[in-house]
Amino acid sequence: MKIKQHKKRIFSGVQPTGNIHLGNYLGAVKNFVKLQRLGNETLFCIVDLHAITVWQDPKVLQSSIRELAATFIACGLDSKKSVLFSQSQVSSHVELAWIFNCVARMGWLNRMTQFKDKAGKNKENASVGLFAYPALMAADILAYHATHVPVGEDQKQHLELTRDIATKFNNDFQVPNFFPNPEPIIEQIAPRIMNLRDGSKKMSKSDTSDMSRINIQDNKDLIALKVRKAKTDQEPIPEDIVDLEKRPEANNLINIYASLIDCTPKDVLTEYCGQPFSNFKPKLAEVLVSELGPISKKINQLLEHPDEIDKVLNEGAIKAKKISEPIIKDTYKILGLSNNISN
Ligand code: ADP
Ligand code: TRP
Repeated sequence: MKIKQHKKRIFSGVQPTGNIHLGNYLGAVKNFVKLQRLGNETLFCIVDLHAITVWQDPKVLQSSIRELAATFIACGLDSKKSVLFSQSQVSSHVELAWIFNCVARMGWLNRMTQFKDKAGKNKENASVGLFAYPALMAADILAYHATHVPVGEDQKQHLELTRDIATKFNNDFQVPNFFPNPEPIIEQIAPRIMNLRDGSKKMSKSDTSDMSRINIQDNKDLIALKVRKAKTDQEPIPEDIVDLEKRPEANNLINIYASLIDCTPKDVLTEYCGQPFSNFKPKLAEVLVSELGPISKKINQLLEHPDEIDKVLNEGAIKAKKISEPIIKDTYKILGLSNNISN
């Protein structure tokens, strides 16, 4: 087989596990929209098979899939420019995931910090799927020969594993560069948005306290309340970035503001240094409301027409299959497996 040159192709996925929060938005989805706007070939996937690695109520899952599709569209993803689809509609993902389960080593997966975090103390009772989750993620990316993956910083380790799987497969079967080595694209200002009540933890859908995060569909009053109650310290806003970085909660609020208005944290310090956070917080709430308000409104409008959302996803799945099925077919051939392709 001749050595492949891969063209730039961008792939990312988000789990349909409840409200998208500000961390998902600034760390991932806003970046997706930028990459789409730059005219790249882009695929964005609702990773519903990843969601079921922990138990999901089927009815809730179905509506969360539509909600996430509506969120993607409301944030600016356009099904004419990007392929928008759900993972379970394209069987290539699971087919390749099984193959990667046979390529990845137990030791590699044992090192994944997300598994340790999500499984908690009761590791023995976690699903096998939760453990094998990163092999499915590698399959999501490599089934499209994607070269770039926009994600939050927390996903860096999974991307490294994806590269290890690609390299091992290419070496084991002597197919140099058959699978590309995908690169993460990590947002510079908002690589990791932190929990509003505890600056040492990332903002997450799974935190029990809703006050710890801003959800994309929170209303104006709730946003203002959450920002007002966000943990800070007694000190005023510093002049120097080095001083800010020693104060995780303060740093987080400044980074959120900078990311929302597309400037650097240093620019924010220049404008607000010396002022107490009680002056800054209402400004932050204001920019949050002006960014998230219209998105939230659009999500609700889109959700009034679930059939149209389903249509977008169905059409996306057809486009996704066109790209992934020939790649799966080649992969089967490389492995010496029968060359039939499932529909
Ligand atoms: P969660 O981690 O909230 O369960 P997902 O796993 O579905 O959400 O993540 C979707 C995307 O959002 C990923 O690219 C992830 O890296 C990014 N992301 C999640 N939380 C944050 C955060 N606090 N800051 C920045 N990016 C984040
Ligand atoms: N693991 C990612 C997360 O928890 C979601 C994900 C699944 C993903 N498959 C992917 C991200 C492929 C990028 C590419 O956020």
